[in-house]
Amino acid sequence: MKRLDGKSALITGSARGIGRGFAESFIAEGATVAIADINLDAAKETAAMLGDLAYAVQIDVSDQASIDAMIASVVSHAGKLDILVNNAALFDAAETLNITRASYDRLYAVNVAGTLFTMQAAAALMIKQGHGGKIINMASQAGRRGEPLVLVYCSTKAAVISMTQSAGLDLIGHGINVNAIAPGVVDGEHWDHVDAMFAKLENKKFGQKKAEVTSSIPAGRFAVPADLTGMAIFLASPESDYIVSQTYNVDGGQWMS
Ligand SMILES: NC(=O)c1ccc[n+]([C@@H]2O[C@H](COP(=O)([O-])OP(=O)(O)OC[C@H]3O[C@@H](n4cnc5c(N)ncnc54)[C@H](O)[C@@H]3O)[C@@H](O)[C@H]2O)c1
Repeated sequence: MKRLDGKSALITGSARGIGRGFAESFIAEGATVAIADINLDAAKETAAMLGDLAYAVQIDVSDQASIDAMIASVVSHAGKLDILVNNAALFDAAETLNITRASYDRLYAVNVAGTLFTMQAAAALMIKQGHGGKIINMASQAGRRGEPLVLVYCSTKAAVISMTQSAGLDLIGHGINVNAIAPGVVDGEHWDHVDAMFAKLENKKFGQKKAEVTSSIPAGRFAVPADLTGMAIFLASPESDYIVSQTYNVDGGQWMS
């Protein structure tokens, strides 16, 4: 018996990166997984790569109609929803004086409102189904403390930690566990983009920011998505039934709380 046998999971932003790693690991544990992403072609490619238990769904988490349509697609494909991973998010960096309204609005629409209203739609369905559920929000070490050039992103991830606490307390009465994972730095396309942004903002060579960050990680290296999957499976499984409103650091020792 696998740990997620027969479960229906929905992972936003899972066409690539950490979300794709979660999808692969949930499928290996027996779950059916909706690969939900704004990039439908990439979601289809990922679903095809992951096999029969994966299917692609288009979603823009900043759009309520899109969230509602995604939940309806999950019900129509899998018949139910047991696990939501709120993983889709955007990153941006700028000096405080150069932050634009457009960047602020987009990051808050995706990282904060997207997380909140996807969580709300999933929880409403789970309550209707009547057998509880698991919601895992993707926070970040960036939500634990500010960084000089990352004000907006850091604050959205602090909001995810706070929303996880409040929603977890509210929903546990329905048997829904809401918890979060706070990764440190995870290599992949996201961090290639971050490294390129810092190269511009701090006048560094490509790869220099990654090297500097690596030297500050107690574990001595960036994470890969597989470093996070154990925590995600745990939080998605019955083993975490008594865990409520927590944010777990999976960051190679960078933050202690
Ligand atoms: N990579 C890291 O170092 C790191 C560290 C801490 C936290 N995180 C968090 O982990 C999560 C995944 O990070 P990642 O590195 O895999 O990111 P990524 O940028 O590689 O992947 C994000 C995915 O989300 C999708 N997406 C973007 N906007 C969307 C929208 N509006 N609706 C639906 N999908 C959308 C993208 O198409 C992409 O497939 C994010 O919440 C991120 O903030 C990442």
